[in-house]
Amino acid sequence: GIVYLNGEYLSAEQAKISPMDRGFLFGDGIYEVIPAYQGKMLGFAAHLERMKNGLQELEITLDYSQQVWRKICEQLCEKNSGDNLGIYLHVSRGADNKRAHAYPTNITPTVFAFAFEIPPPPISDIDNATTYSVSLEQDKRWQRCHIKSTALLGNVMHYQRGAAAGDQETILFNRLDEITEASSSNVFIVKQGVISTPPLDNQILPGITRWLILTILHSHSDFKVEQRVITKNELLNADEIWITSATKEVGPVIKVNGKLVGNGQPGKVWQQVQSLFTKHKF
Ligand code: PDD
Repeated sequence: GIVYLNGEYLSAEQAKISPMDRGFLFGDGIYEVIPAYQGKMLGFAAHLERMKNGLQELEITLDYSQQVWRKICEQLCEKNSGDNLGIYLHVSRGADNKRAHAYPTNITPTVFAFAFEIPPPPISDIDNATTYSVSLEQDKRWQRCHIKSTALLGNVMHYQRGAAAGDQETILFNRLDEITEASSSNVFIVKQGVISTPPLDNQILPGITRWLILTILHSHSDFKVEQRVITKNELLNADEIWITSATKEVGPVIKVNGKLVGNGQPGKVWQQVQSLFTKHKF
């Protein structure tokens, strides 16, 4: 595929960065994943806003305007084949001439982007939906999970724990047995028709899909929606569980630690919400 690196479009094999890059040595960078269906991006402005916030928090200064980013994303969609693409954007603090923890002054951020194929958008059909079985374990990541940092070892280790058990995701709870999020998704539950998701704080990533879902739900007065603490027990007794992300949209969870959620099928509320999400997208 064709990738973007520091102003140039290159084949992935030609793209090279320094081993002294702080992204490589420290995971010192910010990333985004934006879904694009038939070249049309979903939530572009919101994804860029989150990246801007992350860069600000890391005190990385980058003078890319929204138009420049849009152009890069559009070029990557054009130059790479596939109707369903995830666009990965990555900004690291840059390469230094030494390995020192302190933020160096006067280095140029490394900007890297590529497009990868993602599954076709989910269909809101209970019998043919992509479903997820998940593991459940204690969140052992850091206390800055609101930053979409490229330092993902904690997330990767959580994901792998689920994968080793044959699951496609791992849902996490904190030391108070409160659900935070999953290794690469946000979490929603439905109980007696009420849709709940944990509130935004430093324990979770402010997911763009989460935000889009809440926006859609709030514009339909027939849903009861709450952003509140959800305990591990509530999750285990939920009628429906969803995991949400740019590439999954609203992902129905049918098994937690091997135990069926509800009747082991995607729920009715899931079907309604994924269907609204699909409509909203086009
Ligand atoms: N992951 N929480 C975590 C820890 C995530 O890594 C992600 C996204 C989300 C969902 O955010 P959004 O709805 O903005 O995609 C929540 C991306 C897709 C990834 O790392 O590949």
